[in-house]
Amino acid sequence: MSELNTKTELLNVIRDIKAYIKAEKEYDAEEIPMPGTAVSEAGKAPASSKSGTLLSLKNEALNCRACPLHKTRRNVVFGDGDPGAKLVFVGEAPGYDEDLQGLPFVGQAGKLLTKMIEAMGLSRDRVYICNVLKCRPPENRQPQPEEVTACKGYLSRQIEIISPKVICCLGRHAACALLETEEPISKIRGKEIDFKGVILVPTFHPAYLLRNPSAKKEAWEDLKKIKRILSEV
Ligand code: URA
Repeated sequence: MSELNTKTELLNVIRDIKAYIKAEKEYDAEEIPMPGTAVSEAGKAPASSKSGTLLSLKNEALNCRACPLHKTRRNVVFGDGDPGAKLVFVGEAPGYDEDLQGLPFVGQAGKLLTKMIEAMGLSRDRVYICNVLKCRPPENRQPQPEEVTACKGYLSRQIEIISPKVICCLGRHAACALLETEEPISKIRGKEIDFKGVILVPTFHPAYLLRNPSAKKEAWEDLKKIKRILSEV
């Protein structure tokens, strides 16, 4: 690992620890579960415990060698945002900028995603953003089925831990990986689909929207639908 990567990783770990401490401070000490009592009154883990559990999962992912992508990655791009978020965005895989910084959606598509989130009246730190693959496929090629199989456990566990109200799948790869379908995104976008008790709404990937700005209108309809669902839960 180069000095730059080690520094980036160290900065990311410090950020995670700060987020964990902040989450702990926001909750009463009594709400922080003791071992074996990791649920709150509503049967859900409080944000502080979610943050800690996500951090251990992230540490697992940082050492992952389950597929050949570990050989070419600079950083594992685990995910970023609020561990207690009601809304989780799932993209495809890290690209060049994400691999460099160890953070999801920080390149051009990420800038558009940030605008989309803000147009919903939210901010990046109030939602959670992650990808199906945690490591960049070389030359940004499409994820291979065996890479999705090797990596999907991390995404499933992230969703279980965060336990959001809504999952917004960005593009075909995210929707197909979670729903195990081959349906084109144009057919399923904007639908409210039950995913293990969570409402899943697929929409277009921001990179597609950059190439096809006319599709932004439909994507905005999907985001408005998500806003409405969130206001009702
Ligand atoms: N595209 C994705 O699918 N994910 C990212 O993190 C960045 C671009």
